[in-house]
Parts: sequence; C-alpha cells; structure tokens
Amino acid sequence: MTTAPQEAFLQAFHAEYPAVTAEAFGRGRAPDGRSSYEILCDQVAGSRRVLDLGCGDGLLLELLARRVGRQLAGVDLSSHSLALARRRPALSGATLEQGRAQELPFADDSFDACVSHMALMLMSEIEQVAAEVARVLSPGGVLACVVGGGAVGGEAFERFLTLLRRTVEETPASQRIPALGDKRTRSREGLDEVLGPAGFAAVGWETVPVCLTGPVEQVWAAVSGVYDLGPLDRATVEGLRKAFIAEVRDLTTSDGHVPCAFKIHLATAQLR
Ligand SMILES: C[S@@+](CC[C@H](N)C(=O)[O-])C[C@H]1O[C@@H](n2cnc3c(N)ncnc32)[C@H](O)[C@@H]1O
Repeated sequence: MTTAPQEAFLQAFHAEYPAVTAEAFGRGRAPDGRSSYEILCDQVAGSRRVLDLGCGDGLLLELLARRVGRQLAGVDLSSHSLALARRRPALSGATLEQGRAQELPFADDSFDACVSHMALMLMSEIEQVAAEVARVLSPGGVLACVVGGGAVGGEAFERFLTLLRRTVEETPASQRIPALGDKRTRSREGLDEVLGPAGFAAVGWETVPVCLTGPVEQVWAAVSGVYDLGPLDRATVEGLRKAFIAEVRDLTTSDGHVPCAFKIHLATAQLR
C-alpha cells in the first residue's frame, strides 16, 4: 500500500486548517476538569526529553514546556501547522521538524518519552512508526498516546456522526477522504500487536469521556473539524450544518447548551 495519497491529503487539509484539532478539542474537558492535552501532559510528568509525534500547531508541546528544563521536540507532516507551533514563544527552544513518524529525523536514544495526541491513529505503516519510536526512545522510555474513541452516545456528536455518514454515502467518490491509518491503533489488543514486536511491554489503556457541551454554533465548530468535511463542497457542508442544528434542537437545555461529548482512549506503553 502506498501512503502517498493519505499523507498528501493530510498535508493539503492542514494547509487549510493548520490548528483545527487544538481549536476543536482544546476546550474539551474530562470529568476531572482536564483537557485531553493536559491528561497526556500529566502522563509524562517525570520525563525530561519529550518528543511529540504529529505535534500539529504545538498546543501539547506548549503545555509540556511549562516544566522548566525540558528538552522538547515535535515532528509533523504539515509545514503549515509547524509554522504555528514555531510562533509559540514557549517553544522557542524546541526542535520542530517537518517529517514522517515512519522516518524520524532524530538519533537513537534521544528521548525519555514520546507523546502523540490524536495522530497515531492516522498513521500508515504503523509497525514502522513503532520501530522508529522504539529507536529514538531510551530503554525504559514511555510512549503515551491519545486516540479518538468515537461518540459517547445520546448526545450531539453521535447525531453528527450519523448525519455525516449519510452525507458521505450520498457524495461522489471524488469528495471522500482516503482511508486513514491502521485501526489496530484504536484498541488495546491492536496496539499490543503493533508495539510488542517493537520492544514495548503491555499497553495500559483507559477510556475517558470528554465534554464539548456548549452553544450550538460552538459545538458545530468542534464537530465539523473532522477530516471528512475537508473535500465536501460548500453547499454540502452548509446543508450538513443546517441538518445538524435541526437534529440537536431537542437536546438543547434551558441555558441554550447542546450536550456533546466524545471518548478518548489513553494508551501508554514502556519500552523494555
Ligand atoms: C488530528 S491532527 C492532531 C494535531 C495535534 N497533535 C493536536 O492534537 O492538536 C494529526 C496530526 O498528525 C500529523 N500526522 C499524521 N500522520 C503523520 C505522520 N505519518 N508523520 C508525522 N505527522 C503525521 C498531521 O499532519 C496532523 O498535524
């Protein structure tokens, strides 16, 4: 399988929407009040040299930079997202490289931890990614990832996904996105299968609901950040927006908020 169409799609999408994930999910909150970025940051609290795989516009790296003395690096396919990361004053000392997780531009044993927020699940040739992460981590190093886990159910994200599925089915193939990533990254068993041969111990796995509840336009802004909307024409997206607003009307609470949530899986594995 060639990864070129998938990676070309991701680069083109993020050229247009370089900060879409941070904008969509940065304000999401788990039951304990933390964002999914903060949860991941806390997982590697004791690590000094940290690499962010698929770092996007650098929101997670900025959180990591709050600990003084850290050596930070980020890699991403998107030069446009990296340009935003480079503008963050907190990341002036970080190494930010355009590149592929399958061919990391770092020496062996460079990091104590590798983090990845909503990016591992998009990567093809995932065994190669696992081998590269193992190569750049020191023995005992940690990989900690957040991957998407879908809708919680009974709320706006679930309804959005139903509408989106219907819309995409009715859309010409030219407006559909290529299949992205390897679905084994979305389950504990699958990740064990990928990471074990690269030298990682058994994967730790936790599923956390993240709340995106808010006024309907704010909720729409969050859910419409998904990749599938990228190739759709303006009229189709506008039709979907109107259908979504109508579809969630009965969910709206007396304070004008629409309940919305999605699940994340937090996966951690230590290099033996
Ligand atoms: C959904 S965005 C998440 C960005 C950021 N981690 C965040 O959560 O805000 C996924 C990111 O992974 C990057 N990415 C996907 N596949 C990649 C690969 N093989 N190598 C490097 N970066 C990749 C994309 O360019 C994109 O910036």
